Amino acid sequence: MDQYETRRARLLTSTRPLPSFEVVGADGPWLHRADGSHIFDGSSGLLCANVGQNSPKVRARIDEQFPRYTFGGAAVVQPHIGMELVDRLCRAVGRPDDSVALTTCGTLGVEVAVGLARNITRVRDGQQRRDILTSTLSYHGNSALTLGLAGNHARRPRPEDTLGLGPAFPAPYPPTHGHDGGRCDASCADEIAKEIDRRGAHNVAAILIEPVNGSTGGAYVPPDGFLRRVSDICRERGVLVIHDEVLTGLWRTGTPLASHHWQGCEPDMVILSKGLGAGYTGVGAVLVSPEIAPLIRHKDADPLPAMGTMATHPLMAAACLGVLDELEAIDMPAFTARGKRLGAALNALNGVGPVRDVRGLGFLYGMEVTQGALWPLMKAVEDRGVFLYPFTGAGHPTSEGLVVAPPLTSTDADIAFLVTALSEAVTALNRTP
Ligand SMILES: Cc1ncc(COP(=O)(O)O)c(C=O)c1O
Repeated sequence: MDQYETRRARLLTSTRPLPSFEVVGADGPWLHRADGSHIFDGSSGLLCANVGQNSPKVRARIDEQFPRYTFGGAAVVQPHIGMELVDRLCRAVGRPDDSVALTTCGTLGVEVAVGLARNITRVRDGQQRRDILTSTLSYHGNSALTLGLAGNHARRPRPEDTLGLGPAFPAPYPPTHGHDGGRCDASCADEIAKEIDRRGAHNVAAILIEPVNGSTGGAYVPPDGFLRRVSDICRERGVLVIHDEVLTGLWRTGTPLASHHWQGCEPDMVILSKGLGAGYTGVGAVLVSPEIAPLIRHKDADPLPAMGTMATHPLMAAACLGVLDELEAIDMPAFTARGKRLGAALNALNGVGPVRDVRGLGFLYGMEVTQGALWPLMKAVEDRGVFLYPFTGAGHPTSEGLVVAPPLTSTDADIAFLVTALSEAVTALNRTP
């Protein structure tokens, strides 16, 4: 090991192979390498740098806040900037009357949503509902609770470390939910009804679900009508619906929320994170509908869960406002058309060389490849100037692929560059004996 590798080993982060290049600068979706070349960030970092890097709008907001005060939790100063963020955010996602809990990351957002769901249903019903039901092929964060709850195959804790938790119903996608070769449809939601009824609805506080799957399965999209049926099933049983839009929220799938692709599936709570901080700041936001939010302030409610020392941090709020400035400056018709072109170009690669399947929406796609092809393809794409993020274990230990999720501010030329690099890489692998 050379000196760099020795020092690197002491930084306890990902066990995945590291990029072979060093980044010395960044501008929008482009990373500047130490050797003077540029690389296109085709996965928005970890699916979060949604408005690119080095944004003048984000910087202006931080510069404006910095000299005012750089720390002030809601209990220390009047949280004007936090309130401004809440107003802007709720309007942006079409939920103008929601209440919002701000946290420091997506995982903590999920934890807070779980706590609020239990509290709300207890106050509403006068009795404890404890269970939170999740699907196979899901990811909800990296705390002990959220790892225990979720069904991510590769990150599942050892059985003795699951806190007795685990996924409760099959995700409505292959390969976890077979229909003897047939496709999943809205009736897959009936598995949820069965599971709630098996446990007794009075024991179930909420369903926690990603409306469009993120990096666990690689952008699987549920069948039409599925989410609406989930909502109907839950409403009939007094079970809350929580959408984890940590990854998909704020236009990643082409709409403000991924659930906006379908009618009649508005959740009781939504968790946002990655697209809100857009890589400029750690943040999580739990949006609570006006129908249930008053229960959180009820005299019988538990104290609000402390969102942490750094929640509602003024610089965090400033950065998020800058991100919303960026998002709201996007020419939406052009953006929608660009997303469709990206999807069409990727779908055209389905079946070519190692590509087994392409799925996704808007600016979020999963490209599943044959076993063993992932790392050679990553390298071939990187050699052509594009960084992409891998997914492994989409419900089966051997399934793997790439997440294609460029920054939402990418231009036509950027997308053309990404598609050309990926097509050439796939074709080159096709030729490799
Ligand atoms: C759907 C989903 N939920 C929760 C999380 C956890 O968010 P964070 O990494 O910010 O804690 C992630 C992160 O990838 C995610 O994709």
